[in-house]
Amino acid sequence: MKRGKFITVEGIEGGGKSTNIAYIAEQLDIAGIEYILTREPGGTEVAEVIRSILLDSELPTMHEDTELLLMFAARAEHLQKKILPTLATGKWVICDRFTDSSYAYQSGGRGIAIERIATLENWVQGELRPDITLLFDLDADVGLARTRIRGEADRFEKEAVDFFNAVRQHYLAMAKQHPERYRLINAQHDLPEVQQQVQKVLDELLT
Ligand code: TYD
Repeated sequence: MKRGKFITVEGIEGGGKSTNIAYIAEQLDIAGIEYILTREPGGTEVAEVIRSILLDSELPTMHEDTELLLMFAARAEHLQKKILPTLATGKWVICDRFTDSSYAYQSGGRGIAIERIATLENWVQGELRPDITLLFDLDADVGLARTRIRGEADRFEKEAVDFFNAVRQHYLAMAKQHPERYRLINAQHDLPEVQQQVQKVLDELLT
């Protein structure tokens, strides 16, 4: 059985990831591809409990190492219980955020050394890396303005614009470093234009 494709979707808040994931799902349905949609942190019952701790804005400030290790604890669970078994059946996995979020937020945003994250990545994932990563890129100001009209902010959304600028720059650096895997989507355009960019990536994946 050929392993399914592992596609991850990344970017700062307000880039329209959710809307575009729904679009990707529609297009895969049309193409007759079997897939699951999942997300990080979370994706399994245990990992979703870890997620609720990570996003809880009522908790006292968490040490950045705790945050990183919880992200990877949730990821280990998600990978072993859901992602790997699904890929093994030949189904595709479309994941809303994955390890690149840890690099962008916990290293780019919080300042943890990249090598520490690489160590955890190699430990938890072994050789597994996404086949394609769509990066929805936009100005941090624009992204934040979009999320602030959504209501209640989680622990990350409470960060200031400088934090998201740093996260964005880290994403862009990774996209440059891994051009074979990254597909950069300009998320600042109107939705139809953004979907055209997503469609191009899908065309490439489906041929
Ligand atoms: P979520 O509500 O899924 O954010 P969004 O809707 O913007 O995707 O919350 C996930 C938050 O967790 C998001 O702010 C990014 C952060 N995060 C990390 O900091 N590191 C990680 O490894 C992951 C997976 C997420």
